[in-house]
Parts: sequence; structure tokens; C-alpha cells
Amino acid sequence: MTGRATPRSGALFERAQSVTPGGVNSPVRAFSAVGGTPRFIRSARGAWLTDVDGHEYVDLICSWGPMLLGHAHPEVLEAINEAVARGTSYGTPTEPEVLLAEEIVARTPVEKVRFVSSGTEATMSAIRLARGFTGRDVVIKFAGCYHGHVDALLASAGSGLATLAVPGTPGVPASAAGETIVLPYNDRAAVTAAFAEHGDRIACLITEATPGNMGVVPPEPGFNGFLAQTCRDHGALFISDEVMTGFRATREGGWGLDGAVEGWTPDLMTFGKVMGGGFPAAAFGGRADVMGRLAPEGPVYQAGTLSGNPIATTAGLATLRLATPEVYAALSATADTIIGAVVDALTAAGVPHAVQRAGTMFSVFFRDGAVSDFAGASTQDTAAFAAFFHAMLDAGVYLPPSAFESWFVSAAHDERAVATVLDALPIAAQAAAKASA
Ligand SMILES: Cc1ncc(COP(=O)(O)O)c(C=O)c1O
Repeated sequence: MTGRATPRSGALFERAQSVTPGGVNSPVRAFSAVGGTPRFIRSARGAWLTDVDGHEYVDLICSWGPMLLGHAHPEVLEAINEAVARGTSYGTPTEPEVLLAEEIVARTPVEKVRFVSSGTEATMSAIRLARGFTGRDVVIKFAGCYHGHVDALLASAGSGLATLAVPGTPGVPASAAGETIVLPYNDRAAVTAAFAEHGDRIACLITEATPGNMGVVPPEPGFNGFLAQTCRDHGALFISDEVMTGFRATREGGWGLDGAVEGWTPDLMTFGKVMGGGFPAAAFGGRADVMGRLAPEGPVYQAGTLSGNPIATTAGLATLRLATPEVYAALSATADTIIGAVVDALTAAGVPHAVQRAGTMFSVFFRDGAVSDFAGASTQDTAAFAAFFHAMLDAGVYLPPSAFESWFVSAAHDERAVATVLDALPIAAQAAAKASA
């Protein structure tokens, strides 16, 4: 963990810790899982981050998903600069909101869409709408799926078939968590049992379209379609959370991997990250009759001062318009190359691993054997990952600082960026082998 000297990041981190809890504005940035000092980034361009000490890194975080085209894409910047010159927020309807909503409706099965400012707000609002629409309170989620820091969705898994959850964090009232049922992912029997017991109280089931927040754990074939059908059979709504996967896993998001092929649609979907082009923008959308229950058309209240902000929607629109099928093909090819090299390096070093993938998203589990749920993801060798992470960082590759995160590539990951990753992998694999020995 010696590596490059980072005195400026170190000094900023110290100052940050005296004015901000943990020195960061979102916990996973703090390196708690891997130790050491988070790098403070001064600028980013294409596939590269530059920290305040002047070191460059190939970025495999991509702002946790949004930067599909890479950083500071010239055409996105141009659109943003033009929009900024016209003012930054009006609190009135604007044209970019309409254009971005049309783009989302064209790419996904949603019929109507409402913009918000974060993925958390999107899932919170979707759940309120599902409860308002059905007149029921109970929500089903899966262990290991993250849907933002919504009270009812922070409930963590209890063991057993269908556990009425206890709060997963202090500050969540037992009453909020008590309306949430947490089930093991990919477990059809658990879903069937929960609906058999609580069916007439269940407002909705929410799931990541293909989970990326416990590492990438794809649904088993037909699992999402089964969830959609089970919800329909019981008068509950099926919410597919595409905040991470939306316009990222494929051009049509996670839905492009199964729903578009198998012919089912979620009742509601949530989006964020890529559709904001690097700005705070997110959305929820779905069936017109369900969305019609939202204020001002219907009685379910939901609002936001900066919702549909003209700069954010302009950046999102520019990003989506540039995200052509060719871009997704290039991302996929980059993922192929990096995955192949990761497997080769970890195999050569004798480090147990499983690489899993959903479209252009992938992650590396530091354990033997495929992972199908959170219990499996939790059995990783996190010490091996920490050593691997720091060796990569020292070699100029910034991975997500946790073994439970997806790795993200962008259309700007060119030969030089990929070569840097490939050069770093054998050394990092050796470091992982040493740490796990
Ligand atoms: C699937 C999913 N849903 C919701 C969220 C919350 O989004 P935000 O961080 O914008 O509140 C995230 C964030 O990573 C996510 O991955």
C-alpha cells in the first residue's frame, strides 16, 4: 500500500474529515473497505482521472456508472455550455425535459416518465406510487439489491424464507422496515411463499433489473419474467430498478437482456446515472394508468424544485443521443478484453475468482464458483481484493474501492487505457495471491 506519494489527497482528506463525516459525501468513496486514502480528483477526460497530486488513473468507476461516453465528451460539453449560457434553472417546464422523456419512452417499455434528482428519489417515489395505486403497504425487495437510501429499502435480509425485516441502519423506524419483506435473490420458492402468505398486502416487488450492487449477479434465466407474472397474479406492481443498468447494461438497459427478448414489461421502472449525463438527474416511469395516479393528474403527491433541471436533462439527452448501438458494441468489446485478462492474471496467480457479467457491466468475485445471491457474494476474500485494489491503484487504475461493486467501462476506454489495465493485472493478481495466502 506504499505506491505513489499522494500528499495533497492526504491533506485534503484530513481537512475533509474535520468538516464532513468520514471526509466524504457518499460512504463508499472513503476506502473503508480497502484502507488507505481516497484520491481527490481534480479533473477527468476520456477514460482518465487526474488527482490533485498529478497522478493519472484509468477510470473503472465512471462516476459509479453515469460516464458511459467517458469524461468531458466534447459534444456533451458543448450542449451543456450552450444550455448554461441560457440560465441554469427556471422552475417551469422546458423543451429538454420533453425530448429526454421521449428518448426514454422510445428505448424502454415505459409509457410515461417523471424526472427527479437522484436514484433514491426515483425508487422512493415509485414505491409511494405503487402503494397509492394498489392501496397496499408491503414492499418486497431482495437481499443484496441496493435501491438508494430510502427508509423502507434499507431493510436488510434476515435468514429464513420470507423474513419481515428489521431496520438495516439506525434511524430507520421499525414501522418503515416492518413493511418490507427481504428475500434471497434468484429464489423462486421464497417469492412464491411470500406471496402466498402476504399476497393481498403486497403493493410491489422491487428488484434491480440485473443486480450490480452486490457485484454483478445476473438473474437466472426467466427469473424477472417470473417476478412480473407473480406480481400480476396477486395484483401487486413489479418495479424494475434500472438506476444502474438503465442505458448502461445494453442500449435498452437491463430490460434489453431479458424483458425485450421474452416479451414482458415491468409496471414501473426507475432510472438514473447515464440518463443524467453526469448531473443529478433520475426518473421513474411506467404504465400510463399507474403514472396517471401522480399529481397533478392524480392524488399521489410527488414534486421537486430542481426536477427535470434544464442542464441535467440537456446533458442526459446529449449522452443518450450519442449512445448508439456502435457505442454499446465497443463497450462490450472492451469488457471482453478486460475480463479475459483478469481471468488469465488471477488464474496464473492461483487466486480463486469468478467473473460475472450483465451486458457491458461486470465484476470480479474473489472466491471460487458462480454467485447467485448475496449470501454467496458475502463469502469473498475481501483481504485479497483490498491488496488487488491497491496494486491496481498504484499501477494507475482506479477500481471501485469495494469487492461488492460493478466495474464500469466507457466508450473512451481506448487502446492506451486498456493496455494500462492489462499491464497492471498480473502484478495486482500477485498481490492478491500474497494477501490471501
Ligand atoms: C440500482 C440502484 N438504485 C438506486 C440507486 C440510488 O441512486 P442515487 O445514488 O442516485 O440516489 C443506486 C445507486 O447506486 C442504484 O445502483
